[in-house]
Parts: sequence; C-alpha cells; structure tokens
Amino acid sequence: MKTVVITGSARGLGFEMAKLFKQNNLNVVISDLKEENLKNTKKELDTIPSSSKVEYCVCDVTNSTDLQNLVTFTKEKFGAIDIWINNAGVNQPDKAIWELTEQEIDLVFDVDLKGAVMGSKIAMEYMLQQGHGAIYNLEGYGSNDAKMLGLSIYGTSKRAITYFTEALAKENEERKTNIIIGKLSPGIMITDFITNALGNKEKIELPEKTKKVYNILGDYPDVVAKFLVEGMLKNTKNNAKIEWLTSSKAAWRFMTAGFNKRDFFK
Ligand SMILES: NC(=O)c1ccc[n+]([C@@H]2O[C@H](COP(=O)([O-])OP(=O)(O)OC[C@H]3O[C@@H](n4cnc5c(N)ncnc54)[C@H](O)[C@@H]3O)[C@@H](O)[C@H]2O)c1
Repeated sequence: MKTVVITGSARGLGFEMAKLFKQNNLNVVISDLKEENLKNTKKELDTIPSSSKVEYCVCDVTNSTDLQNLVTFTKEKFGAIDIWINNAGVNQPDKAIWELTEQEIDLVFDVDLKGAVMGSKIAMEYMLQQGHGAIYNLEGYGSNDAKMLGLSIYGTSKRAITYFTEALAKENEERKTNIIIGKLSPGIMITDFITNALGNKEKIELPEKTKKVYNILGDYPDVVAKFLVEGMLKNTKNNAKIEWLTSSKAAWRFMTAGFNKRDFFK
C-alpha cells in the first residue's frame, strides 16, 4: 500500500487531496501547524471507507527539524514515502512591496519558498535511500510571470518555486535517481487562503473586480483536488506539470461567463 505525505493539510486543498488519496486506498500523513486542527481533520478523514490509514504529525515547514521529524514519523508508521507534496502556503497582505514589513516578507518566503525547498531536500534524502518516490510542489500566482499589485512577494516565491521544481527535476534526470518531480498548478481556489494573509493573521478585502475574476476562473478545492490527485496517481514522468486551469480553459470560462453565472462571495 502506498503512502503520501501532505504539508499544510489541515484544511483547503491539502485536506481535499488527503480525502481523495484515502478514497484511493493510499495511507496519508496529514501535517500542519496546530495539533487541534489536525485531530479534527483526521476525525473527518477516518470516516472515509478505505483499506488505508490516516495519521497526523505537527510540522511547521519553516523548521527543518519538524520536516525531518515528519519523514521519520512516516517511516515509522508506514515504512515508506511514495508521494510527498509541499502544499503548505500563506498569502501576503494586499499591499505594495514597500508597504510590507520585513517580517511579512520573511514569512511568505519562509513558508512558500524555503519551506518547499527544504521539504524537497529532506524528502529527496529519504527517497534516495528508499530508491523511489515522487515529490510535487504547488505553483500559484506568479508562476507564469503574471504580476499584480498586492501579490508581488507571493508571486516572487511562486515564480521561484517553478524554477526550483524544474531544476530539481533536471538534477534527478541527470543523476538517474528514479525519483520523479512535478508541479501542481491549481488555478484559483475558493479557500480561506484568498481572504486571509499570513496564515490567518490578516484579513484580505477582495476588490469587486478581483471577485468578478475569481467567480469566473475559481473553483472549490474539492474539484481541483480530484483533478490533481488523479493526475498524480497516473503520472510516471519526471518534470510533470499537472495543470487544472490551462489557458484554453480560462479563455473558455471568460467566453461562457455570461451563461454561467457563479457567485462564491454571496
Ligand atoms: N487558493 C488559491 O487560489 C491558490 C491558488 C494557487 C495556488 N495555491 C497554493 O495551494 C496551496 C494550498 O492553498 P490553500 O488554498 O489550500 O490554502 P489554505 O490557506 O486553505 O491552506 C494552507 C494550509 O497551510 C498551512 N500552513 C501555513 N503555514 C504553514 C507552516 N509554516 N507550516 C505548515 N503548514 C502551514 C495552513 O495552516 C493551512 O492549513 C498553497 O501552496 C497555495 O499557495 C492556492
């Protein structure tokens, strides 16, 4: 039976992916900042009929000892890590670059960029001993070089994640490691993430024009998770990109927006 580890999975996309992996009979280790949230999430996951199991492990991805502990914990519980997903993320406050404090900038880079870099490094070290495995990183706004006031530091980290993930895939190819690396591109999801900055420290008031775009392009995370999890379960290629909101899908959504009215913000 295969095992998947998902960082930042007490809620949102991570939680939805955990549900689907469990439905597909993979053991799942959920991890996040707070034990209480993980306990509640595990309770919900335990109600899903499956031959596999769910365990939880507190892990702050900005702390490499926690990441190492997440590997050890999973090894002890399940004996292997087949898929590792660096999903934990925080949004930035809706401010221009020069209005952000150094601490705000640090947190976004530490979680969204360095957390995934260290998560990949530590998972790689284990998977090399094990002889196989797959690591996925989350793309996001900025990955494709788009720019927008209020998302520049987040976008800088996601643009870097794209480069980093491709570089990691290339290194694995050159070293012929048998480990596959991939990018998950979830588009826009209606989760707490879009209205909360820096974890839940600050509310984001979305401007009406942003809400309009989100109503056209956005989806609930369960819909996106289904697509991403099916993609990961099928994928055998290194340097894969599993992309939900392709440019043709986005164009179709804009073309049909008049007939397909949605309001996620009622
Ligand atoms: N929501 C979107 O529109 C969107 C779009 C593109 C990409 N993404 C990316 O998808 C991923 C999941 O986003 P989501 O929408 O489910 O967000 P979310 O806010 O619902 O969930 C993120 C989770 O990460 C956890 N987390 C935050 N800091 C952490 C830390 N230091 N260590 C461990 N866990 C931590 C949070 O507690 C939370 O459970 C993120 O990487 C995000 O950047 C989101």
